Amino acid sequence: MADDPVLEHELEALLEREWFDVPEEFRERALISDLSEHERAAHDPVGWWEEQASALDWFEPWQHALEDEDAPFYRWFAGGRLNVSHNCLDRHVQAGLGERVAFHWHGEEGEQRRITYAQLLADVQRCANALKARGIGPGDVVGIYLPMIPEVVVAMLACARIGAPHNVVFGGFSAESVHERMAFSNASCLITSDGGRRKGRTVAVKAEVDRTMDDLTHLETILVVRHTGVDCPMRDGRDLWWDEALAAADPECPAESLDSEHPLFILYSSGSTAKPKGIQHTTGGYLTGVTWTFRNVFDLRADEDVFWCTADVGWITGHSYIVYGALANAATSVMFEGAPDYPHKGIWWELCERYGVTILYTAPTAIRTCMKWGVEHVRGFDRSALRLLGTVGEPINPKAWAWYWHVVGEGRCPVVDTWWQTETAQIMITTLPGAQRMKPGAAGTPLPGIAAKVVDGEGREVQRDVQGLLTLRQPWPGMLRGLYREPDRYLSGYWERFGAPNYFVGDAAREDRDGYFWVIGRVDDVINVSGHRMSTAEVESAIVSHPKVAEAAVIGQSDEDTGQAICAFVTLRGELDGDDSLTDEIREHVGQRIGKLARPRRVIWTGDLPKTRSGKIMRRLLKDIAEGRQLGDVTTLRDPGVVHEIAASMGDEDE
Ligand code: PRX
Repeated sequence: MADDPVLEHELEALLEREWFDVPEEFRERALISDLSEHERAAHDPVGWWEEQASALDWFEPWQHALEDEDAPFYRWFAGGRLNVSHNCLDRHVQAGLGERVAFHWHGEEGEQRRITYAQLLADVQRCANALKARGIGPGDVVGIYLPMIPEVVVAMLACARIGAPHNVVFGGFSAESVHERMAFSNASCLITSDGGRRKGRTVAVKAEVDRTMDDLTHLETILVVRHTGVDCPMRDGRDLWWDEALAAADPECPAESLDSEHPLFILYSSGSTAKPKGIQHTTGGYLTGVTWTFRNVFDLRADEDVFWCTADVGWITGHSYIVYGALANAATSVMFEGAPDYPHKGIWWELCERYGVTILYTAPTAIRTCMKWGVEHVRGFDRSALRLLGTVGEPINPKAWAWYWHVVGEGRCPVVDTWWQTETAQIMITTLPGAQRMKPGAAGTPLPGIAAKVVDGEGREVQRDVQGLLTLRQPWPGMLRGLYREPDRYLSGYWERFGAPNYFVGDAAREDRDGYFWVIGRVDDVINVSGHRMSTAEVESAIVSHPKVAEAAVIGQSDEDTGQAICAFVTLRGELDGDDSLTDEIREHVGQRIGKLARPRRVIWTGDLPKTRSGKIMRRLLKDIAEGRQLGDVTTLRDPGVVHEIAASMGDEDE
């Protein structure tokens, strides 16, 4: 991009603007074009959410919109009964929308599948019956470890249909991570595929899964989707082929009437200890939150729009906005199996042209990568159908924002920068695209029905423009209901700091004079790599499980492409010396234990690590060293010499 002086100049001019107005053509047709919803909701948040919930199909009405006697164990729409898969499928088919495309699926090698709502409903019913035939029922956890193929959606909705909470593991995580998550959640079934594809290569997924899964006696069924045709061992009595099981299943499976607080899914996410947190979401509140936010943040016109969220289903973004929010609104989406540079670096834009994508939702890291590849890959394809752009996962730097707006959206499409978390399940802070002006770098304001504030360490509100800790001040329907089997961790991680109803987010932020929130980043030991959460402790424990490693400390180092990159300081056992081949070995080892995303970008060999007198590793100082900053206070260290040694050796490395 550096070699395009005209574009550079245009972007610089854009960067001088603080505000970007909503394009008039957009505002004229927008679902919401003023702040009246914000005002109505502020007046009576719970009543306002009730109104949104009533847009769903309920089998039985709720008695209480919000029960908070047991706070922070909140309950939404208590007593009400519904089914998520009924709301995502049956309801639309009954309304005559069966032939509407739910997904335009595009495979890595260019294969295409159109899946209508009617087909999805048929497959979901068969899959639900296949699960039932294996004895799976309400409350039984089902693991899902699948690539980005339509079967992943079928599997999730089938679980929702029978009330079996799913536990999806991102396909990029290792088999060991799957094992850990299946063990923690006591899963009785795992749905996976024979193999996966990545940029022309095939990997044997099921064989890998088998390698780790044998000791899990509670895992009684493995359902295997035939995807790549790669050789795949099947164990009698436990393993079943997906296609055979669905073909043998009864085509009709009525949707179970479930309590509003019935668990819908568990999704493991990184926390500040090595053990991932099993974040729990339930039925009625979750569906209300994602349905309203999908429709209004993306300004959906379900009969015209083609929505594309480029995330993987294995993350919360995929759960809420590829699957549940999209389907509950009867939207048509694109689902893409592949990588953004395969078979070529313009594939995303080719797909936008081919499917007439109107709403694109992606992450800042992907935007920065596209920027680096150059505008020619984007401009080679027609993007005139695009009318709205969104980002999620990390703060977007104003330059990437300007590029997204100017190059991708041709100055015509509002950009919604959406702040939320696995825990919040639904978008919380953003601009409503037809109603609020945009400020590059700031997410926007809390959505209707959401209250956010920036406070100091003691929970006192700070003044505008002062950085502090982000809190959410009132419960919202999509909020997490707990951590799977770890109620104490739920209380200590989110509520003890400020006391319910004030939820501790874990992000630093600033609210500016216009009430716009600027989210800075995490305040705990969580690293954000390309919009994906990684825990320093989890990566450290993977590194120290390598036989040659004595100790390790991991930090997130600022990185132009990925936001943060993992940098590991490693002390070896005995007299061992580190070299490049050991670096590769350690990276590989972490890849095996957690997944490729967690591999450290940089490994730095150190004789010792900076520790306090009580033995706590001072990661803050390592971060200062790695980012070339003046060292903070070193007087509390047991041996202040250590940091100077590390700094000196890194100086040598940089030369
Ligand atoms: O630090 C914030 C950052 O991502 C964290 C949540 O990560 P995760 O649970 O994996 O969910 C990501 C997708 C919703 C937050 O605590 N984050 C997310 N969106 C933004 C963001 N930071 C700044 N701006 C955003 N738009």
